[in-house]
Amino acid sequence: MTNRQVWIADFGSQYTQLITRKTRELGFSSEIYTIKEVKERLISGQKPNALVLSGGPQSVFLDNEDYSAFFQDEKLPVLGICYGMQLLGKYFGGTVYKGHTGEYGNALIQFVNGFKIKDCPLKMNVWMSHSDHVAKIPIDFYVIMESTNNFTGAIKHKTRPIVGLQFHPEVEHTVHGKEILQYFYKEIAGLKKDWTAKTMLKEARSEVAKIKDSYVLCAFSGGVDSLVAATLSKDILNQRLYCFFVDNGLLRPQDYKHIEVLKEETGLNIEIIDAKEDFYSACRGINDPELKRKAIGKTFIEVFEKKVHEFENNRAIKFEYLLQGTLYPDVIESITPHANGGKSVTIKSHHNVGGLPERMRLKLLEPLRWLFKDEVRKLGLELGLSHDWVYRHPFPGPGIGIRVLGELSLDAINKVQQSDQILFEELHNYNLYSSVWQAFTVFLPVKTVGVKGDSRAYESVICVRVVNSVDAMTAIWSDLPREFMIQISSRICNEVPGITRVVYDVTNKPPGTIEWE
Ligand code: XMP
Repeated sequence: MTNRQVWIADFGSQYTQLITRKTRELGFSSEIYTIKEVKERLISGQKPNALVLSGGPQSVFLDNEDYSAFFQDEKLPVLGICYGMQLLGKYFGGTVYKGHTGEYGNALIQFVNGFKIKDCPLKMNVWMSHSDHVAKIPIDFYVIMESTNNFTGAIKHKTRPIVGLQFHPEVEHTVHGKEILQYFYKEIAGLKKDWTAKTMLKEARSEVAKIKDSYVLCAFSGGVDSLVAATLSKDILNQRLYCFFVDNGLLRPQDYKHIEVLKEETGLNIEIIDAKEDFYSACRGINDPELKRKAIGKTFIEVFEKKVHEFENNRAIKFEYLLQGTLYPDVIESITPHANGGKSVTIKSHHNVGGLPERMRLKLLEPLRWLFKDEVRKLGLELGLSHDWVYRHPFPGPGIGIRVLGELSLDAINKVQQSDQILFEELHNYNLYSSVWQAFTVFLPVKTVGVKGDSRAYESVICVRVVNSVDAMTAIWSDLPREFMIQISSRICNEVPGITRVVYDVTNKPPGTIEWE
């Protein structure tokens, strides 16, 4: 991995990833490090072009760490955000007050002392989340912004390239956050852009190029991550890359079509494993969502391993690497301890192929491990993949298995497949597909009374779920046009046998998750 211009020191803020993303969006390479890593690197003589201190859930009063290594180099540009600014206040001899009241959410902020930032109005809306605040400014700093609640909004060192912001410029609600970050990176730190789709591609490819003559196996789902990972590796690995696609019988009609087209158009070696029956029999009699996910995950691994071994024997080859579309958020999660030292609770088991590399004794090849999803999409376009493939909605590994609530039955799977296809077609007809994060239907195991023709019907319910999201961590149900809702409701009731009622899910995440199981 090459060195990044901007190091983000993670004090445990829920927004640390966003700082990194916004920094890269502005064109500057950046990476998150733990406090310990930043310290060790600085002490060993390495140096970024700019250092950002993130926000954090703690209070600086409880922080007795020695930060002198962070501030030793007088030329190093430093940006302190929220907790980071309080740390600047404390370190440079100001006074931080423990707040009893604070500012949470939107706040209005204004420039003071004649200070201005290009493209920002004098007063702006920003996102705050603090109770502690810098009450007395260190002597070497001056105030450049104040909130209308009379808190210090931002400070700047008189001679050194150091800026502190009490608010969060990385959050969307800070209307001019991008301009403020740009000001720090360009005018204070003097950085030059170094992060483009081309540089990402070069870096990802150099990761693949490290592999010499080994055979590489890819658990291919057809989703954007595995597709981009396989496509960028293909030119380097040529015939040593094999993609295995497992048909678990829990796919939608669009997935079958997609894989056929991909197979034909990408030139990738895609082997399709038909394992529908294995999955159906593994799930038989299981009602509990977690047990179902586990059964599907376990079957995937067993089927995959068996087929790959057969393939190896037939071809007299041996795979050494597993190519995975692991992304940066997964990597950060696994290296950054949870802010308070604990572990976050498992809401759902998400890892589709967990355990596979160890079990099959494969080394991992993860060329996308430094990238966020939106960057992988840019990379996909750079590789010449079609917009529709690159902007496909996410689809979970357990597929329809977690969209038929309770025990799976072929009949319920069919109902989801048919209703999902209608939803998919209409989203395209109404030009709505690209404006939502995910859209799908769920089979509810209840029956309701209806009337079809002149007869009473006592049939099943399909729920339609459509959400908007940026990263699936939170989501908002999509408020779609009335005509579209009428169309999908009537088509599903008319065209899917056994359905008399369609309901729409109006639950955000939190408290609901995106999937129903
Ligand atoms: P939830 O339901 O937890 O889902 O709000 C967040 C996002 O993750 C997808 N999802 C999964 N993806 N394997 C996956 O690859 C899984 O087991 C899985 N479960 C949920 C979900 O579709 C949404 O985009």
